[in-house]
Amino acid sequence: MSIKIGVLTGGGDCPGLNAVVRSVVKTAIHDYGMEVVGFMDGYEGLIENRYRDLDDKAVSGILTRGGTILGTSNKADPFNFPILENEKWIYIDRSSQAVRNYERLGLDALIAIGGDGTMAATHGLMNLGIKAVGIPKTIDNDLYGTDQTFGFDSALQTATDAVDKIHTTAEAHHRVMIVEVMGRYAGWLALASGMAGGGDIILIPELPYDLNIICDKIKERNRRGKGFSIIVVGEGAKPIGGDLVVQQKVETSPDKIRLGGIANVLSKQIESLINMETRVTILGHLLRGGIPTAYDRLLATRFGNEAVKLVNGNRYGLMVGLKGQDIEPVPIEEVAGKYRLVPRDSAYIKTAQSIGINFGTDI
Ligand code: F6P
Repeated sequence: MSIKIGVLTGGGDCPGLNAVVRSVVKTAIHDYGMEVVGFMDGYEGLIENRYRDLDDKAVSGILTRGGTILGTSNKADPFNFPILENEKWIYIDRSSQAVRNYERLGLDALIAIGGDGTMAATHGLMNLGIKAVGIPKTIDNDLYGTDQTFGFDSALQTATDAVDKIHTTAEAHHRVMIVEVMGRYAGWLALASGMAGGGDIILIPELPYDLNIICDKIKERNRRGKGFSIIVVGEGAKPIGGDLVVQQKVETSPDKIRLGGIANVLSKQIESLINMETRVTILGHLLRGGIPTAYDRLLATRFGNEAVKLVNGNRYGLMVGLKGQDIEPVPIEEVAGKYRLVPRDSAYIKTAQSIGINFGTDI
């Protein structure tokens, strides 16, 4: 009997999800003669038994498509599944239902593509007997156990294009322009797009900022005849001793806080301290859209391929990760529930400082 695997995409979407699904299905069918089913909307599909068969035809032509043909959910935690009862959300443990459906379908393994939330749920289900392999995705690049997630490079390209384009208006109108990027509690996207796009000031969650240092940098640029400044800020950035700016709370999500809006706060503060028009562009979900870059397509294809190889080798409980140029599996147990933040001594930060980029701090 052939091996049968289930695959799902969980958490926020990002470019490259379809490239992974395609790689999983093609490797499974062509190399190993396995059968593949795809669960719809992340863990929701496994719990509600919503799935589709995935064959060659189903994954044909999806390599370059953003989003995910399987749909996703960042609310479907099998251990804390939200249900509306009498107009109130209650949370129930539906993990045993997930295991029942996995068994009823005769699955030998589950490949879960997702971020920290998906890996944490997968780890919980592994303890209930599901044999799983994880694949790390997120534009935030904040997953522990891998040097890079797929999705990051595509979001970085979009953010860099935006910072590039902001330059013309900043320069023509002698303004301070603030570009806010996603990234949650990690500054990878802000740091990399700020450097690649030629930003003057980069603010990341890992380095709380001092407003006076930011304003001094802008004034110094003005004195040097650069009558404009570009600030790239991660949504999780905050002042020294200050708080995160929360855009909204999503009660039904395991990660209830949605960040956003720090750029608006900063622009008012900068305008009140120095006499310069300060404008804001918040990139938000634009960063999750569009076609994956060539790099992300390759990484996604390698990850998908490696995940199926692990299944074929009977090696479970692992997440495929990138270590340097190589794909190395790491135990999901070690990854679940952990973030990978920008280290304070990051080589990127040091290089950025050497070329005059300011982080709004004295480090
Ligand atoms: O984790 C990816 C991400 O896009 C974060 O950068 C962002 O904070 C969050 O998801 C937004 O989530 P939602 O799509 O629920 O608004």
